[in-house]
Amino acid sequence: MSKKVFLVGDGSVGSTFANDLLQNTRVDELVICDVVKERPIGDAMDLEDITPFMGETYVHAGDYSEAKDANVAVITAGVPRKPGETRLDLVAKNVKILKSIVKPIVDSGFHGIFVVSANPVDILTTLTQKLSGFPKNKVIGTGTSLDSMRLKVALAKKLDLPVSAINSMVLGEHGDTSFENFAESTAAGKALSEYSELDDATLDEIQTEIRKKGGKIIANKGATFYGVAMMLTQIVAAILENRSIVLPLSAPINGEYGIKHDLYLGTPAVIDGTGISDVIETKLSDDEKKKMLNSADKMQEVLDGVNL
Ligand code: LAC
Repeated sequence: MSKKVFLVGDGSVGSTFANDLLQNTRVDELVICDVVKERPIGDAMDLEDITPFMGETYVHAGDYSEAKDANVAVITAGVPRKPGETRLDLVAKNVKILKSIVKPIVDSGFHGIFVVSANPVDILTTLTQKLSGFPKNKVIGTGTSLDSMRLKVALAKKLDLPVSAINSMVLGEHGDTSFENFAESTAAGKALSEYSELDDATLDEIQTEIRKKGGKIIANKGATFYGVAMMLTQIVAAILENRSIVLPLSAPINGEYGIKHDLYLGTPAVIDGTGISDVIETKLSDDEKKKMLNSADKMQEVLDGVNL
């Protein structure tokens, strides 16, 4: 079966993702679409030059009609955060952009899987499902996958362990109400509470560092893209290769954690060739459960204010 990816949004995240995707998995065709017409043409030509080393891929610019037979439609398009802005400050502008994208993709006859990274990602993933009417497992958001990688990196540095020895996640909103599942985390198989260097003050510091990392990257270089582009790549490659992987994602909530709202939120979930094949309700401490419910309430409040 031919593997085709349709990418909307050729800014820093989109073009980095295109590059990562070609280097990490086999794709037969990659179509890049953007409101700025020249940029995808240039990017496709530039990316074509790496294909002799990655296996042949037909990379080209194209319009929404190209989504028709794509396996995956990736949405990175949106206004990015400026220094000092929160992800939720982007809602109005990015919902408008999202509406102009989802409809023509669906109208093309697309029947694959949507993967969304544009912010605020939990809101835009929920709305992509609503606007498309697609089955919920066919719409996925990058969620707290990137925050979780940031957490692993921070804990590994603090404990002087390899990142792969760390089992820890950030859950809830990809944004200011997210939280770390420290109570269930392990490092080299041991609970974090067994490490004397991880006292409450240090965990607080790590928490603040993770929460502020995206903003700090933006303050220094104007945008964040390598991290989120790699998370998109992991998700899309797992779909194309039908390889079951578990990641904390923006996944459809159906009563998990006692959440009453109908929305997408950061929780571990299994992705394979069918999309999200399982949403995993992971164990949370009472305090973490409260934080999860708070994140869900915050997202619902924002959704209530959206005019579709
Ligand atoms: C970040 C963007 C992707 O956290 O929200 O880097």
